[in-house]
Amino acid sequence: MFAEKLGIDYECRLNEHLAFDDVSLLPSESSVEPYEVDLSTWLTPEHVLAVPILSSPMDRVTEVEMCIALAREGGIGILHRNCSIEKEVEMVKRVKREEISGIIRDPVTTTPDTPISSVIKLMQEKRVSGLPVIDHSGELVGIITRRDVLAARPDALVKDEMTPREKLVTCMENEILVDGKLMTEKVKELLHSHRIEKLLVLNSEGRLSGLVTFKDILRLEENPHVSRDSEGRLMVGAAISPFDRKRALALDAAGVDVLVVDVAHGLNLNALSSMEKISKEVNAWIIYGNIATREAAEEVISSDIENLAGLRVGLGGGSICLTTHVTGVGVPTLTATALVADAVYESKAKLSVIADGGIRNSGDIVKALGAGANAVMCGYLFAGTDEAPSEKVYIRGVPMKRYRGMASPSAIRDRYAADRYARKVKEVPEGVEGVVPYRGSVRTVVRDLVAAIQAGFGYVGARNIEELWRKSVFSKRTIVGMHEALPHDVLPETQFPEKYDKPWF
Ligand code: XMP
Repeated sequence: MFAEKLGIDYECRLNEHLAFDDVSLLPSESSVEPYEVDLSTWLTPEHVLAVPILSSPMDRVTEVEMCIALAREGGIGILHRNCSIEKEVEMVKRVKREEISGIIRDPVTTTPDTPISSVIKLMQEKRVSGLPVIDHSGELVGIITRRDVLAARPDALVKDEMTPREKLVTCMENEILVDGKLMTEKVKELLHSHRIEKLLVLNSEGRLSGLVTFKDILRLEENPHVSRDSEGRLMVGAAISPFDRKRALALDAAGVDVLVVDVAHGLNLNALSSMEKISKEVNAWIIYGNIATREAAEEVISSDIENLAGLRVGLGGGSICLTTHVTGVGVPTLTATALVADAVYESKAKLSVIADGGIRNSGDIVKALGAGANAVMCGYLFAGTDEAPSEKVYIRGVPMKRYRGMASPSAIRDRYAADRYARKVKEVPEGVEGVVPYRGSVRTVVRDLVAAIQAGFGYVGARNIEELWRKSVFSKRTIVGMHEALPHDVLPETQFPEKYDKPWF
């Protein structure tokens, strides 16, 4: 049903495999307003995402900050595995500790004897404006906020400037958290009546169990579609090698929601049988990949992987990929998605299809969903955000961030340095490294994408992803058509040439 839309004839051995830029979707009769479009999708039988976007498990894309930011926008971050098992496990734990239903679980704290100069530095580093103060026995003894440190002497100590325990406004966790749901009105009332920005939350033993800020409450109200697990914690996924049983078990024990198999050739039968064994020992849902053909999908669907929830689709399409160049093997992500979606559709298995690699903009996302994907996985689109774990660099005054393929020479080197048990697989690098434009926060990027995707659905007349699957009709573009589909014949004012010859006609 999907591949046919892209002109694939399963009987033909030399099919044309179309890529995102080769096609556009046809507009169709519509009474759908973009704001009415529901982009929610199921990732696993237990995890629904309001926004069908995953971040790639890459070491310049997804660590803790990316997972938190993306889950708060309704997507999900997939932690990379280019590190020791301990580090990946710790990252899962940190995301899970971050908040429960809006309560920050692991707030940055300080101690009474810390100098104010260190507190200022910590506030700047962690981008927080107030720190609970905890003494050596773990007791909450005060709070210190930006206002307290502004005019204080740098060598003064926290205990001299903080608001002490007896003047603190606190509340018990069970007063504001009922059945896993934060009573936002109650919290707002407390914050407002005491004219404070932060509310310290205590557990039944009177110890600090979390923090709620006014900003978080406003964010919760503004965006209720945070991706949460059944306990109200943020959802998080983590990458594993299909041969790394120890890592899979450790991540599972840490409470990861979904294990994402991270292997370039998912139809490698050794990888598949290793995953069959590992899957019997974990509780987390499994997304298997990467695969790129219908046959591969059929093989995985009929495999004995337990808790199989989805298929990760794409081979050679990523912005940093060299695979097809180096090996001659690859399938454009759009076509691969349709081929795999056909196998899933025909098998009637409830599996999500994740289009992975080569997605550069919202238009590509709408096309991938139209070709049968439940969600997309993006590296390039997030590598330029604040939350991506790499420093911002200025190249000729333009802010950029570093990005690299996980099979690039430096990433391979780092993997073996961080994890000496990592299985040596790649002799020849299949990825490159470089820089991408700085894009600001994940929040802005995702919100812009969502608005644009919804507009795309409006043109096709689809209210949700399943409707898009039924209604999508692709047309093939010519090179001229591709040129016409981008802005043309208009000069950017800033790049106006010194010498300008008007066209003669
Ligand atoms: P984008 O286009 O979003 O693609 O940057 C990200 C996806 O590319 C895959 N990936 C690689 N593929 N060599 C490859 O051939 C690599 O070094 C490499 N690193 C990542 C991966 O599927 C990712 O999600």
